[in-house]
Amino acid sequence: MYSSISGGITTDPAAMVIPMDDHMVHRGHGVFDTAAIADGYLYELDQHLDRILRSASMAKIALPFGRAAMKAILIQTVSASKCSQGSLRYWLSAGPGDFLLSSSGCPRSAFYAIVIRGQSPSHQEGVRVVTSSVPIKSPQFATMKSVNYLPNVLSKMEAEENGAFAAIWLDDEGYIAEGPNMNVGFVTGQRELVVPKFDKILSGCTAQRILVLAEKLVRSGLLSGIRVRNITVEEGKMAQEMVLIGSGILVKPVLQWDEDVIGDGKEGPVSQALLELILEDMRSGPPEVRTMVPS
Ligand SMILES: Cc1ncc(COP(=O)(O)O)c(C=O)c1O
Repeated sequence: MYSSISGGITTDPAAMVIPMDDHMVHRGHGVFDTAAIADGYLYELDQHLDRILRSASMAKIALPFGRAAMKAILIQTVSASKCSQGSLRYWLSAGPGDFLLSSSGCPRSAFYAIVIRGQSPSHQEGVRVVTSSVPIKSPQFATMKSVNYLPNVLSKMEAEENGAFAAIWLDDEGYIAEGPNMNVGFVTGQRELVVPKFDKILSGCTAQRILVLAEKLVRSGLLSGIRVRNITVEEGKMAQEMVLIGSGILVKPVLQWDEDVIGDGKEGPVSQALLELILEDMRSGPPEVRTMVPS
């Protein structure tokens, strides 16, 4: 773990602490992000860093130091952990101070990071999803990745209580939005990959990358095109394929949504091809998506 409060990196779990008076702890005044660690490389670190900086600006959290220093600290933290497969999660917080509502009593923002070991999924079994009854966050809060994940937690728990992998949110107009920690995508009857617009949901780094990588499937003829647009629930449930997309799950096929079977109820060729494209990108993609972690 790295903490800007202690000013260093520790591998001792007992020292991995956050002060109780940190505004993130008692008021939820913090933002976070997560990047995957694959084969000793950080995947899409720059994209995830850009996003936490956008989230911090929306949450009115000043940076304790510049982007280059944050990036260097994150790479050093992963290096110190000796973890080559897993994920890196990091937080920007208004920082410690008093216990009041405003952060004006918190003189210096804080930066924390932790490394979590885990395997990246290489094969994906299809899953079932349900429609979330937990209200979606308003666009102001859904487009930033703040630590206020209670709706996301309750939505995921609702899914698990119903034997499903995730619960899908619809937006205020009834269009398909996103899952609690993933985006969604569909393959229509015309073999077009469609992804909901990002104006009311989190702009997923994985989904944005998939939109670029999927061009290869258009060239090979597996897809006829790629579009980011509003999608109705009726259209989504009629799709040939549905996928969940996120840095934790990569690309996961959905075989059933509520009581409706998606496509023929089996993992489809586009889901599999998209997973292979992202795995290949993690293994051997260009430098703008892969940051080497010195061992
Ligand atoms: C609400 C929400 N939507 C979408 C995503 C997918 O984003 P990414 O692909 O950057 O992991 C996440 C993951 O953090 C999320 O929390």
